[in-house]
Amino acid sequence: MNPVTLVDLRASFEEELRAAIAAGNVQPVRDRYLGRKDGVVTRLLKDVASAPQEERRERGAAANDFKKYVEEHVAEAAEVVREAAQRALSQRERVDVTLPGRLPALGHRHPLTLVRDRMEAIFTRMGFAIVEGPEVEDEWHCFDALNMPAEHPARDMQDTLYLASPMPGEAWTPAGPRPDDERRADLRTMLRTHTSSIQIRYMQAHKPPIRIVAPGRVYRRDDLDLTHTPMFSQMEGLVVGEAVSLTDLKGTLLAFARDMFGAKSRLRFRPSFFPYTEPSAEVDISCWACDGAGCQMCKRSGWLEILGCGMVHPAVFEAVGYDPERYTGFAWGIGIERVAILRYQVDDIRLFFENDLRFLEQFPY
Ligand code: DAH
Repeated sequence: MNPVTLVDLRASFEEELRAAIAAGNVQPVRDRYLGRKDGVVTRLLKDVASAPQEERRERGAAANDFKKYVEEHVAEAAEVVREAAQRALSQRERVDVTLPGRLPALGHRHPLTLVRDRMEAIFTRMGFAIVEGPEVEDEWHCFDALNMPAEHPARDMQDTLYLASPMPGEAWTPAGPRPDDERRADLRTMLRTHTSSIQIRYMQAHKPPIRIVAPGRVYRRDDLDLTHTPMFSQMEGLVVGEAVSLTDLKGTLLAFARDMFGAKSRLRFRPSFFPYTEPSAEVDISCWACDGAGCQMCKRSGWLEILGCGMVHPAVFEAVGYDPERYTGFAWGIGIERVAILRYQVDDIRLFFENDLRFLEQFPY
């Protein structure tokens, strides 16, 4: 092979190498020129051995130069291709750290749950246990045992949601002794109208001393309006012991009010009537919005009505088999929605049950 063909060879090698770089793979060119068996360069070197003696030196040197040239350029091209691939990869995987983060939507507790949890925490700190009772009740636990005689207006179909079926089996929690079967046969069942029925069930199953709060849903035949819903929730409180007094009742409720509504809160006890307590009282709390001065919130009175309470009536103790000579106690019932309404200044009770996120998202804690 003469030097002219070597020049041609170099030219076509360069062209093929450029194409290989553009295609991103120099291996085929490397194989074609440097392949051990019949690469172009390998053959070139073999040809030198069979050339006439006088040409060998020159052709050998030229072939070796070309080999070196090919090796260097293939290596260089491979590096160029590798770097280009690297650049393309990092371009594809580039992270834009300046983009704003995407926040996941976090759920949170319903405002009524927040209030109930807070109330439970306050009473738990005062040593109260938290108990529950069934929402489907019988008349005895909801009315009779609470000293509400058959002719009591609260038992009326107008107020109470009675159920068609008689009392189901023994599915109650907490379980307690029940009125005897004969009497039970003609008991009507109903959705409980207040959590006071839990007092009865708990006393049937436990001996004094007792210190419980019992949260739960209650049901009444009310139409929906700003202040009424057919379902709402209450928290019942009951303390029974050997020397429990009205002073204890006042102190307990005041401690609760100050924790829930602020340290400056005052309470006002107004004489009232409930069949299951004697004496009975309705309790107002000093308006926390105006501190009692009178504002729109308290309708200028300085007071907000918050709960009913009293000393447990001896007839209630008799119904559950406690000795009314030995034990005294106090009880109260407080509306959880009512506390939430006062606490958050909500003017429509229905908002708590409509699940409108625009409302619920205002109570993130
Ligand atoms: N049960 C009453 C109601 O639903 C609230 C109540 C008043 C509960 C006085 C009591 C109490 O335990 O002593 O309106």
